[in-house]
Amino acid sequence: MDRRPIGFFDSGLGGLTCIPHMSELLKTESIIYFGDTARTPYGSKSVKTIKTFADQAAGFLVENHVKMIVIACNTVSATCLSDLSKKYPEIPIVGIIEPACKEAVLSSVQDTRLGIIGTKVTVDSLVYEKTIHESNEDLPVFQKACPAFVPLIEEGIINNDIMDLTIHYYLDDFIMENRIDTLILGCTHYPLIRSRIERAFPDLKIIDPSRVIVKRISEILKEKDLLSKGPASENRFYASDLSTGFTNMIDLIFKGTGASVLFKNLEL
Ligand code: DGL
Repeated sequence: MDRRPIGFFDSGLGGLTCIPHMSELLKTESIIYFGDTARTPYGSKSVKTIKTFADQAAGFLVENHVKMIVIACNTVSATCLSDLSKKYPEIPIVGIIEPACKEAVLSSVQDTRLGIIGTKVTVDSLVYEKTIHESNEDLPVFQKACPAFVPLIEEGIINNDIMDLTIHYYLDDFIMENRIDTLILGCTHYPLIRSRIERAFPDLKIIDPSRVIVKRISEILKEKDLLSKGPASENRFYASDLSTGFTNMIDLIFKGTGASVLFKNLEL
């Protein structure tokens, strides 16, 4: 029985897309979330800068006595997971890429042609490709960086023609030319445009790592005997810039759940 909170962080509001999938766990567990909204997006910055930002975010969660850190960001998972795990060996740190790759391999069939979309840093890291090919080297994997998606999503430009044009701009040739049938949303912001992607490409099978990671979180809590028996206490959401996009998203996610939510601005 461990009533300490689970810590999440992302460059902004993207990591919040994991939270609705936590509904079962949130009956007994509480969370602290940090979104670095003042410095988002991370995905086109240098790895050195991302490491500095990730180190500050993880340090903040550790100061707040979390029992586990969830890197709810593909960009940070691709570049900082091993450094953070070395720095905090006593705290389980879960990255989002490995569980997603496992799911992709397990659900693949003979003819699967897998596409991965993400930030420039995630795609350049080749972590998705390498991790998938460690389990199945014959699975065809194609990657595409879509750097304009995150700034548009953070601005709330989601359900409209601008987003649809951007989706077609990035994905039309990528999906057609590579004959992709399964697409991993390799950035935690992208579930927010999942329905637009599905509308543009109705035959695509979508893998959403924000959903898959929750299973891994539960497994680790059980394995390490870190589960809380509840009751859950207040969930705390911190942002380096408390933007309306961020607070609206939290309102949307927690509406009607009865979960108690506290917002805080955090200067790093
Ligand atoms: N949500 C992020 C990810 O999963 C971050 C994107 C960004 O800040 O560019 O990669």
